[in-house]
Amino acid sequence: MIKIKACIFDLDGVIVDTAKYHYLAWKRLANELGFDFSENDNEQLKGVSRMTSLDILLEIGDLTFSQEEKLELADKKNQWYVEYISKMTPDEILPGVVDFINNLRDNNINIALASASKNAATILKQIDMADYFDVIIDGTKVTEAKPNPEVFLKSANELGVEPKYCVVFEDAVAGIQAAINAEMHNVGIGTHQILTKSDYVISSFEDFNFDTLRKYFIK
Ligand code: BG6
Ligand code: MG
Repeated sequence: MIKIKACIFDLDGVIVDTAKYHYLAWKRLANELGFDFSENDNEQLKGVSRMTSLDILLEIGDLTFSQEEKLELADKKNQWYVEYISKMTPDEILPGVVDFINNLRDNNINIALASASKNAATILKQIDMADYFDVIIDGTKVTEAKPNPEVFLKSANELGVEPKYCVVFEDAVAGIQAAINAEMHNVGIGTHQILTKSDYVISSFEDFNFDTLRKYFIK
């Protein structure tokens, strides 16, 4: 059996469904720039950094801007996004998340949050979950975006746990690839169709616990 010493959680799409707020803000920007942005298009933005998301959006709209203009556009989108997340409450924590993390704690597992978002602190404060994590590495602490493994390696390093003893929980294709690049185990939150490279895929944390997790990794 693989020894599991740490669990590392992505935030957006794993702990909370903030993808809908990112979508609303990007759509508002697209509409202001004169084109539409569908929920299907939004799939491409999951797990991707803010500036790369903007590049994908502008490609969809077939628009080109200078670097300075792009920074202004990204800032505008972020102000709208912050407006939305500032109204979040603990009711928006996804089902089963708190019970699962408490269950990990009871089993002496180290717990980290590893997110690409520069807004992670705001979200954690709104949902009252900052104290659940031993280590928090967010978009303000990394320079490389997923699928680069930096955010996960930094988390493991701060926890003092070797990558081979870590399990990453991710909803994004880029995030699963980052976990693989970090040589960590992973569990995808979503569907097999999208998360084709995941070790295991679950649809939610409901009825999921440490025992179930350990059974997955008996090899
Ligand atoms: C990731 C999201 O967690 O954070 C992406 O999945 C987002 O959609 C990225 O673009 C950066 O977030 P932020 O809050 O710094 O713009
Ligand atoms: Mg995510």
